[in-house]
Amino acid sequence: MTVGAASAFRLEPLAAAQVDDLVVVEKESFPSPWTRRQILSELDKDYARFESAVHSETGNAVGYCGYWKVESEAQLANLAVHPAWRRRGVGRRLLESAMADARRRGCDRMTLEVRAGAVAALSLYRSLGFRPTGERPRYYEGREAAVLMETRL
Ligand SMILES: CC(C)(COP(=O)(O)OP(=O)(O)OC[C@H]1O[C@@H](n2cnc3c(N)ncnc32)[C@H](O)[C@@H]1OP(=O)(O)O)[C@@H](O)C(=O)NCCC(=O)NCCS
Repeated sequence: MTVGAASAFRLEPLAAAQVDDLVVVEKESFPSPWTRRQILSELDKDYARFESAVHSETGNAVGYCGYWKVESEAQLANLAVHPAWRRRGVGRRLLESAMADARRRGCDRMTLEVRAGAVAALSLYRSLGFRPTGERPRYYEGREAAVLMETRL
């Protein structure tokens, strides 16, 4: 196994035991991070599907991704990877897994909104076929625009 490669991680369903790690991932990833309570609330939603990327050796959750199934639409709810573990293919693997799961569950498209300045996320989304469908000016903290994107599944 190559140290640092995506194969050093396994994907697992989101679990309460991972929340301490994921609170850190949130704080390191977003200006308005999800709280512990927000992350835990995803476990109670029957329309939510979240997976974590867990480091095979340490057992730490280094990132997570989730979507909400609304009829035949999968709405990407969150995606984040701890900065120390980025650029190893973890984000791509998490998102590809969410897209495959949504397809299996009968969704025909995935939609999302992303900060206009989130260069890494925008590049990842484009590489997986997402295309912009609109924009919400001053959406985040009353300042940064949200780009709306969609792809067929
Ligand atoms: C977006 C994010 C999840 C990507 O995670 P990651 O594990 O680093 O992603 P990967 O290593 O799988 O990279 C996948 C692709 O993302 C793009 N990408 C990742 N980091 C990038 C960077 N710093 N600059 C430009 N493109 C980047 C590339 O297209 C990359 O593909 P490549 O490696 O073949 O060039 C991560 O940067 C992150 O958590 N960002 C902060 C939170 C965020 O913006 N989330 C999106 C919310 S909508």
